[in-house]
Amino acid sequence: MGSLTTSRVKRFWGEIRPPSDKSLTHRAYMLSAIASGGGVIETPLDSEDCGRTLECVAALGARVTATGSLVRIGGGGKLTSPRAALQCGNSGTTMRLLAGLICGAGLKAELRGDPSLNKRPMRRIVDPLRLMGADIEGDNAPLFVEPARLTGIDYRSPIASAQVKSAVLLAGLFAEGKTTVTEPAMSRDHTERMLAAAGCSVHRDGLRASVEPGMPSRVAMRVPADISSSAFFLVAGVLLGGPVTCLQVGVNPTRTGILDVLEKVGARIDLAPRGMEQGEPVADISIEAGELRPFTVEGEMVPRLIDELPILAVLATQCEGTTIVRGAAELRVKESDRIQTIFDGLTSMGANIESFDDGFAVHGSTPLKGAKINAQRDHRIGMAFAVAGLIADRTTTISGAETIDTSFPGFESELKRLADV
Ligand code: S3P
Repeated sequence: MGSLTTSRVKRFWGEIRPPSDKSLTHRAYMLSAIASGGGVIETPLDSEDCGRTLECVAALGARVTATGSLVRIGGGGKLTSPRAALQCGNSGTTMRLLAGLICGAGLKAELRGDPSLNKRPMRRIVDPLRLMGADIEGDNAPLFVEPARLTGIDYRSPIASAQVKSAVLLAGLFAEGKTTVTEPAMSRDHTERMLAAAGCSVHRDGLRASVEPGMPSRVAMRVPADISSSAFFLVAGVLLGGPVTCLQVGVNPTRTGILDVLEKVGARIDLAPRGMEQGEPVADISIEAGELRPFTVEGEMVPRLIDELPILAVLATQCEGTTIVRGAAELRVKESDRIQTIFDGLTSMGANIESFDDGFAVHGSTPLKGAKINAQRDHRIGMAFAVAGLIADRTTTISGAETIDTSFPGFESELKRLADV
């Protein structure tokens, strides 16, 4: 899918089981690879990014068998240095979390990325891993790791990043002594929950998360749907009437900032609990359009919806008044500089948006007009503007949208299935 085209629809409604959670799939593969009893992962996300992680753990010696929507990773948990460079593709989670695992396991490896990943900052994991005694080089990818023995640290992370926290905690499983990470605000805690469910000694005290050395025993998980992928359909439902129901979605509170915002905007949301999966709450989410009030996102809320800010910016163009997003400088180092790509795209569609170093303000509401958008090979930018096209005059054509497959294979056909033209 090189370019993607959408245009105005009358209504957007229906039921969807969005693709499985990307963050959980990466972690389930990695933890299974080091678990003494291996892992069985049902309905993992079958996408490019998660495929990279699976190939990487196989290259590290994990025995992987995939049948239909079931992936088994053989037990033993002993990893070996890969013979060739590990290819992480577009996936920051693959590179950063695996770097922690590889440093911890005392392996020699080179981790490579695609041109977009090669530009993203890696010092954020290299610095704390070095403090633990790791021999790791690279301000950006490629990263080079040589075998070393690690010692636990008490690390105060300057940023709220689950990838940083997870890289350090995963390395800590192999280190001597306890490893603690303190964050300025709480980022997604999937690593901590999955480690605890797999028998590791994990402790949380407010913004501090600690692990004691020791390998997981076994991972067994049915991966729920990804709330970040669901967000595009929920917002389309809010903009175009709904009702939209997203089935079997992971609703970990460190990920549900989007629901809090949609409620403040005035949407009617209903959550039907569907139980727990390895420490992760799951629910069906239904939404219907209501009022469209502007909103503010800042502070501790930011990490709880960081990946949803592109689609929330699209929503803001239809809210009556000024929406403000601040404290979100991390957007500048995602798959694209998202503050810039949101600003450029919405400006060309006729929205009234200002950009700041750490966020943006949208003055609404303004009608959107179809435009040619360059998604800069950023999957979430591509999907956000595809939804914007559903409420715009004329046609919206999004180039550089092929990376949508990194998180949401089948996005275009699902979007069109729920759209009433
Ligand atoms: C992720 C953490 C977040 C998020 C990314 C996935 C994860 O990044 O934006 O899409 O799976 O840990 P940061 O940790 O860099 O904030």
